[in-house]
Amino acid sequence: MQINKVGVVGCGLMGSGITEVCARSGYDVIVREVNRELLQRGLDRIQKSVGKGVSRGKLSQEEADQAMARIQGTLDLADFSDCDLVVEAAVENMALKKQIFAELDEILPPHAVLASNTSSLCITEMASVTGRGAKVLGIHFFNPVPVMPLIEFVRTILTSDETMQIARGFGASLGKTMVTAKDTPGFIVNRLLIPYILDAVRVYEDGLASREDIDTAIKLGLNHPMGPLTLLDFVGLDTCLFIADAMYEEYKDPRYAAPPLLRRMVLAGHLGRKSGKGFYDY
Ligand code: CAA
Repeated sequence: MQINKVGVVGCGLMGSGITEVCARSGYDVIVREVNRELLQRGLDRIQKSVGKGVSRGKLSQEEADQAMARIQGTLDLADFSDCDLVVEAAVENMALKKQIFAELDEILPPHAVLASNTSSLCITEMASVTGRGAKVLGIHFFNPVPVMPLIEFVRTILTSDETMQIARGFGASLGKTMVTAKDTPGFIVNRLLIPYILDAVRVYEDGLASREDIDTAIKLGLNHPMGPLTLLDFVGLDTCLFIADAMYEEYKDPRYAAPPLLRRMVLAGHLGRKSGKGFYDY
């Protein structure tokens, strides 16, 4: 199957990054947001990131202009009727995602593949509200999407071989390296990342070391680009808490139980970079 047009639901941090890499790889992309202000903010973020790509010599100004011209914004999912593949990157709320999946199932042509970028929610549950379970999978990107080379595919017990083949062709066309996981909370990356991040908070909470020393130890001792508390601020404390809670809900394993400090920081609005304050000030 030839993918000509990609739909992206949501133009937040992940949705805008996914829109950008698709447009930069030559696809026509339509991206939906819930209001004009959020849509404009997302499109501005893409423009800024593409500009950064030009200034870093990753693409020419002409290629950047062509990529931007391939992107269309909308407030209406009905405009997705000619999409061959859709990536849903709306907020992490199962009820909302199921509503979007059911609506898209009515709007999309029968051949279209329907994917979610969720980092922890059940793909099978989203597939269950559609009449195209064989064409549903998870396509999980990493932040910042234009820079991170990985895509995690999530295959449910309904996803067909043909859909996996289409998804692999799509991922390769974006220049990404792909791995495949079963539909279990956290897939591969977050299954390993979340206990590690939660342990870093526990180490800090127990007073074992300062936040700077915890981050420096991992950064220089293990050669990670960021220490765990910096990474937590980068991903968002609320996002990590949401993933941890979803994983704990399913596995009931204390490794995924959020430490009290993390929950209290989220309640206090200390969400990391996006709120200007997390483990560090921004
Ligand atoms: N377009 C294209 N290329 C870009 C770009 C853009 N908009 N912005 C940056 N780049 C390129 C740069 O040119 C540079 O490339 P070279 O190495 O070839 O020179 C590279 O990307 C790194 O860019 P910077 O120098 O600006 O940034 P940095 O070196 O300070 O690294 C970082 C920044 C990539 C964020 C790095 O700190 C990092 O990898 N951190 C960890 C990020 C991470 O773990 N992300 C995953 C989070 S988990 C998740 O997303 C999933 C989930 O479910 C929670």
